[in-house]
Amino acid sequence: MDATLLVGGTVVSSTLAIQADVLIENGKIAAVGQLKETVPDFVERVDCQGKYVIPGGIDVHTHIDSPLMGTVTADDFVSGTIAAATGGTTTIVDFGQQLANQSLLESADVHHQKARGKAVIDYGFHMCVTDLYKGFESHMAELTQDGIASFKVFMAYRGSLMINDGELFDILKSVGDSGAKLCVHAENGDVIDRIAADLYSQGKTGPQYHELARPPATEVEAVSRAIKISQMAEVPLYFVHLSTQGAVEEVATAQQSGWPIGAETCTHYLSLTRDAYDMPGFEPAKAVLTPPLRTQEHQDALWRGINTGALSVVSSDHCPFCFEEKKQMGSEDFRSIPNGGPGVEHRMLVLFETGVATGKISIQKFVEVTSENPAKQFGMFPKKGTISPGADADIVVLDPRGTTNISASTQKQKMDYTLYEGFTANCSINKVYSRGDLIAVNGAYVGAAGRGQFIKR
Ligand code: URP
Ligand code: ZN
Ligand code: ZN
Repeated sequence: MDATLLVGGTVVSSTLAIQADVLIENGKIAAVGQLKETVPDFVERVDCQGKYVIPGGIDVHTHIDSPLMGTVTADDFVSGTIAAATGGTTTIVDFGQQLANQSLLESADVHHQKARGKAVIDYGFHMCVTDLYKGFESHMAELTQDGIASFKVFMAYRGSLMINDGELFDILKSVGDSGAKLCVHAENGDVIDRIAADLYSQGKTGPQYHELARPPATEVEAVSRAIKISQMAEVPLYFVHLSTQGAVEEVATAQQSGWPIGAETCTHYLSLTRDAYDMPGFEPAKAVLTPPLRTQEHQDALWRGINTGALSVVSSDHCPFCFEEKKQMGSEDFRSIPNGGPGVEHRMLVLFETGVATGKISIQKFVEVTSENPAKQFGMFPKKGTISPGADADIVVLDPRGTTNISASTQKQKMDYTLYEGFTANCSINKVYSRGDLIAVNGAYVGAAGRGQFIKR
């Protein structure tokens, strides 16, 4: 029998933080409690005193090896999942794109081929629906049966990814029939395109104008409209990457009226502000991601939304494009800069530092939004997202007295920059277990290649 005892750490869930031992047997959590005296001596013991023992991070918003905006994201499933693992994330749910002239089934197969045998942590997929071809509904139902039980639509990017309101209604009906979940990218794409075209025609072509083209109201309006459409379709939805105070308020109002909207925000909206667009030269391109970074006022509202529960998940929206590529593609026109930034590696560290260490959120809330709720929202709980008997032994030992300096020069993401260059987290990811295997130690990947398993949700 393969067994390990994690001794004396503070074991955390969304409701508890208690000093306890955790027994791992054959990849599963076998017991939690005062186990030192009862567990036989031959079981390996790992001293966790003074450390948090938390469920492995679950990042439900990544774009790995993904064709977007005329290029492909920089990480493949090897580098992306090694980066995730060393940063304390043991599960991702990645967005597969619907490919040009290919069905959702064919596109999902392609994404499976990219991940299989490469991912080092467990992974699920959402599929993006961008073309409603004849019969798309039955393919969505089939994918749901195959364990891809969530989809994403875009209310922005006309001409490539965007769907219209009628299509949003149709897709909601379809996910309602099959029992799947719909993730919505809520921005008013047409208004954004008008503002961006005006800026460009005034000679405002640099990366800093990305922010001005996407004012907060473009998100708030789309969130409000999508909520109303979901109520008309009688099917709830889940908002990805919310960035504004108004959006949080729209979601909270719907939730208070009894309409069960789910919503996430991302690490970068909680830790960075729009000041990134005041950087010199082409530097603002690093923060050309959508929606853009916002003011401190919006950031404060997002933290409040986390504490009230209006926002239940913090994801990374890891969508990495190298700075060099951003320059090559968008030096003449900010609209051509591929939208997205890296983040899967640093989500846990940055959120711990900016949230827990500063007292904005409790350690229990940290576990709730980084692991437990993502598992619950996306059909993986209680296999994932909890340290309880029977769950997969996906566990992070986090040292709140450690130090981690974030830099592009040491990161595992296949990127030439990080949004957190020079950031110091006063904590470290000491050990990471995935299904009982020790896969990362103090920032180094020590697990086997290609060991990740597809999660049918
Ligand atoms: O900037 C981002 N996030 N681009 C990637 C696609 C998306 O909208 O999530
Ligand atoms: Zn999006
Ligand atoms: Zn995204």
